[in-house]
Amino acid sequence: MTQNENPASLIVIFGATGDLANRKLFPSLYNLFSKGNLSKNFAVVGVARRSLSNDEFKQNIIKSIGTVSNDVDKMNEFASHFYYHSHDVTDSASYTALNEIITDLDDHYGTKGNRIFYLAMAPEFFGTIATHLKEDGLTDVSGFKRLVIEKPFGHDLQSAQELNNQIRTAFAEEEIYRIDHYLGKEMVQNIEVIRFANAIFEPLWNNRYISNIQITSSETLGVEERGRYYENSGALRDMVQNHMLQMVALLAMEPPIRLNTEEIRSEKVKAFRAMRPIKDDEVKQFFVRGQYGPGYVNGELVSGYRQENMVNPESNTETFVAGKLMIDNFRWAGVPFYIRTGKRMKTKSTKIVVQFKDIPMNLYYKTEQTLSPNLLVIHIQPEEGITLHLNAKKAGQGIDAQAVKLSYANKGVDGINTPEAYEKLLYDCMKGDATNFTHWDEVALSWNFVDNISDVWQNTYANFPNYEAGSYGPRESDILLARDGFFWWPVTNLDVESC
Ligand code: BG6
Repeated sequence: MTQNENPASLIVIFGATGDLANRKLFPSLYNLFSKGNLSKNFAVVGVARRSLSNDEFKQNIIKSIGTVSNDVDKMNEFASHFYYHSHDVTDSASYTALNEIITDLDDHYGTKGNRIFYLAMAPEFFGTIATHLKEDGLTDVSGFKRLVIEKPFGHDLQSAQELNNQIRTAFAEEEIYRIDHYLGKEMVQNIEVIRFANAIFEPLWNNRYISNIQITSSETLGVEERGRYYENSGALRDMVQNHMLQMVALLAMEPPIRLNTEEIRSEKVKAFRAMRPIKDDEVKQFFVRGQYGPGYVNGELVSGYRQENMVNPESNTETFVAGKLMIDNFRWAGVPFYIRTGKRMKTKSTKIVVQFKDIPMNLYYKTEQTLSPNLLVIHIQPEEGITLHLNAKKAGQGIDAQAVKLSYANKGVDGINTPEAYEKLLYDCMKGDATNFTHWDEVALSWNFVDNISDVWQNTYANFPNYEAGSYGPRESDILLARDGFFWWPVTNLDVESC
């Protein structure tokens, strides 16, 4: 595809001086540009409160994309498409001025009246901005208009509903691109392909052959400078409501009749609807929360969550969640989906382990040796790939069995939140493909699921801190699985590489 086949677009980035824009969005746009995946007819207007000249802003862009390039000419050419507008998000006059700028740029760059508004800033302004965009005429366009919105999308179902009502006054559902950056990850996108393009998996992908599925997303970082946000969020809202439940839906959904946005989303929504709600008195049985105390991460002493910046010294916010989800449909009845996510854990790793049921009779059983269960491990990050755990004959005399692994490694990009995911998502948005963005129905159903849990947690005492930084989380998370006769793969306190 040539550059000019990609849709012309004018992108307005709210929060253009922020961390997300500098670390992810500019490098991702640049990568698209240098790979020829951006139309030549593009312009970007950065919007933020502080006053900056266009030149100063262009310098910021050069600095930001310096992390992914050293081609000075190309970087300058790219930055020449960028403009800056100092903006007050609550003031109509500011939007009118912005509208004049983008109308001029539209003529200048031939962006055909196509506008993408990207909200990369504090969520409390999402609704206000959307309302102003409509009221002050910025959404009266001759081309397409799209709204890209970062998480968090609300704080609970009620606030998410209010926010949605507000943005829907300015944008139709199909014009709203709710970002879940996990959906832009290579191996998360690969789940569908692994499932639906392999005759050896799909027939086994059900409660007759799978004993349980485990999804772990562990981080070594703490809350860094985000204490203020995180205090009101916690791991349940920060990771489970969105990323973890999205992965569950992709693993659990039925095969769509076609690989298009509507069909895939409709199957995901059905999977969300089949998730068994957790009643108040079941929360303790199905979910575990944790908060890190001080400890050693990669050999370095780090402080506990309660000692972090902007965190209440008696905080009851969870930095770890493990849970057991049941999906009440024919395919999954009886198969637990275990999820686990936490900050300041032993390793940075996101992976999915599908554990198959044991064979009906083990002919190879000896007191010192049992067969390993078959596992399909999908490595999402930092390494990307698939490992299939099988049993095979031990070479030599006798017919002893031993565990073997078949591995496929994608050439993964090592890094946290790599621009890769954003690159794909920005590209999809420009092409008008919303498949890897979350539909309102998914957002609503997942808030509904986690709200029960957070309400109970908010009203009950938490014995925090309950795990050491640099560990695999609280013991209760192991007990959650042990009660069902399972354990986390890789086994707690064993080396992650062993999986
Ligand atoms: C974000 C959360 O959505 O995802 C962060 O707000 C978290 O708290 C991050 O660190 C994890 O993303 P990744 O891509 O590093 O797994």
